[in-house]
Amino acid sequence: MADLANEVVIAPDERLKTECAVIEEVTPELRKLAEHMAEVMYATEGCGIAAPQVGELVQLVVIDCDYADDKNHNPYYLINPEIIVADGEERELSEGCLSFPGISVHVTRPSHVIVRARNLDGDLMQYEARDNLLAVCLQHEIDHLHGVTMVDHLSASDRMLAMNDLAKAKANGARPGELD
Ligand code: NI
Repeated sequence: MADLANEVVIAPDERLKTECAVIEEVTPELRKLAEHMAEVMYATEGCGIAAPQVGELVQLVVIDCDYADDKNHNPYYLINPEIIVADGEERELSEGCLSFPGISVHVTRPSHVIVRARNLDGDLMQYEARDNLLAVCLQHEIDHLHGVTMVDHLSASDRMLAMNDLAKAKANGARPGELD
């Protein structure tokens, strides 16, 4: 099997800074892309992946926060996801990203979100998460669709440090899915 980690777009890359296109309809190609993203995510042990991370600039996210302790994959496919509520206490948590191999950074985000998205059947779904990995993951992945990555939440100086750490980690051969 090809090394699926090679499919991941690594920062810095313009594709990770680009507003992604709204998806008009669920086509066979879109389903294929969704499957491919899930494969890359599971192969790299990520809990979420956004289409620009495999070089496709469309508003599609795959999330599975549950599978780590479980062989049963249960991915959520979110098409054109929108955060309709983001509130609750702000929480600072350590985040990693497949596109930033070898580093993690502390990001502060609201602890409660409600997200609306279409699934691959075209049905409008609503997801709610509070104080858990899913709440973080939803925000992190939806950011990707708008050209925003986790380091964009840092101060300019912390962002510079993180990008230096990333360059070092890459030079040392860090691969998508590896944290520090
Ligand atoms: Ni990410």
